[in-house]
Amino acid sequence: MADKLIIFDTTLRDGEQSPGASMTRDEKLRIARQLERLRVDVIEAGFAASSDGDFEAVKAIANAITESTVCSLSRANDRDISRAAEALKGAKHSRIHTFIATSALHMEKKLRMTPDQVFEQAKQSVRFARNLVADVEFSPEDGYRSDMDFLCRILEAVIDEGATTINVPDTVGYAIPELYGLFIKTLRERIPNSDKAIWSVHCHNDLGMAVANSLAGVQIGGARQVECTINGLGERAGNCSLEEIVMAVKTRKDYFGLELGIDTKHILAASRMVSQTTGFVVQPNKAVVGANAFAHASGIHQDGVLKARDTYEIMRAEDVGWGSNKIVLGKLSGRNAFKQRLQDLGVELDSEAETNAAFGRFKELADRKSEIFDEDILALVSEESISHDNDVFSFVKLSQHSETGEMPFASIVITDRGKEFACEAHGNGPVDASLKAIEKHVQSGAEMVLYSVNAISGSTESQGEVTVRLQNNGRIVNGVGSDPDIVVASAKAYLSALNKLQSKSERVAAQG
Ligand code: KIV
Ligand code: ZN
Repeated sequence: MADKLIIFDTTLRDGEQSPGASMTRDEKLRIARQLERLRVDVIEAGFAASSDGDFEAVKAIANAITESTVCSLSRANDRDISRAAEALKGAKHSRIHTFIATSALHMEKKLRMTPDQVFEQAKQSVRFARNLVADVEFSPEDGYRSDMDFLCRILEAVIDEGATTINVPDTVGYAIPELYGLFIKTLRERIPNSDKAIWSVHCHNDLGMAVANSLAGVQIGGARQVECTINGLGERAGNCSLEEIVMAVKTRKDYFGLELGIDTKHILAASRMVSQTTGFVVQPNKAVVGANAFAHASGIHQDGVLKARDTYEIMRAEDVGWGSNKIVLGKLSGRNAFKQRLQDLGVELDSEAETNAAFGRFKELADRKSEIFDEDILALVSEESISHDNDVFSFVKLSQHSETGEMPFASIVITDRGKEFACEAHGNGPVDASLKAIEKHVQSGAEMVLYSVNAISGSTESQGEVTVRLQNNGRIVNGVGSDPDIVVASAKAYLSALNKLQSKSERVAAQG
């Protein structure tokens, strides 16, 4: 039996630290369920002590997930650790992940602590955590830029205190694959009790090498856990991408020789769900989950793939959840065909009511759009998965007029706390006029820092998926909306962002 590589997903914690990617408890729960379907080994559900909202999200996930281990991050202090343990109480398998910075720069400038104080605090925190749960992970933050001798001393001590996983973060994405691999190897060789813990890699993507660094940590360093996020979501340039690491290890099993527990056919649905929930659009040429990842445009390539698929394809699209048949359903398709398609796409809705609602939306869409592609279905079910219970505003209808030489005009009806309001405005274009009309009523004063439109299935007949990013009083939120009419999609995205701005939640930064 080959070694197993543990996949530790931190989309809901490190991924969520990306500005604008904050998620509600229900959104996180929904994604956690998808991660469990994907058979992720460990789900880092959040940072329980950072806010009441995060505590509730970790707790809800701990109570719902049975197959994967549920983990909460905590700083290395008794209060954070107790809060993490409290949130994880209902979990079948739980882990506390505690961390403290160990680089000279972070200790001196950020923590204002001496190395001896950090050493003592790390030891005492792991001891405290081990009294609460059996599975404790320790991370020396900014580990890769830390002094090797100090790191050896502190990691040996925390393993003695019972840390079961040692994670070595490249917090700022500074590593180079070979050097990072050798760094892990040296730590494992120099620390006398290193075999008592599982070694883990955690790489950020600032130089675009998070996946390469993680793989080197595995292959050269002997790490057996990789920390990663769906779509590589995360602060700045993001984290190591789950889909890339998983497909690299699976496709090149001849080289890595490692077993994975992941059910890869759920990858695409997870990617869509995360992108739709956070508003972080996946670039078309993104490996594995980008719209072009399996598209062959050049005549030579198409000819080759038709004769023998492996001439130009190293993975099978179906293995990561892409349907082999791109045009799937239309207005005559029934409920069973729709359910079958969901199954083929690796999507499981949580209840019959959700399936019925998704089918209703599918029928509405099919009335307006003759061909329904896999991407349309994935967008539709992602939207279905988002709870609108706490929404303050919702879209009802709009009309707009634009003509060459005239100022575009929009008239829109929205609900505000259940009551309908009609608003009108002129703007530079129909989208601008519609959003100005909404703003006239809501008066949020928020600044729009991003507006983007993506054609879900690539043609003008396609649904437009719009992302709007708003900034207000230091908070950044993303809203997403999809519709065959991009003006409507824009209004929905804007309202979704305004709804997020209404939900006040302050949190402590993990690296603060
Ligand atoms: O990047 C990092 O150092 C982290 C730690 C908190 C593990 O995310
Ligand atoms: Zn990180």
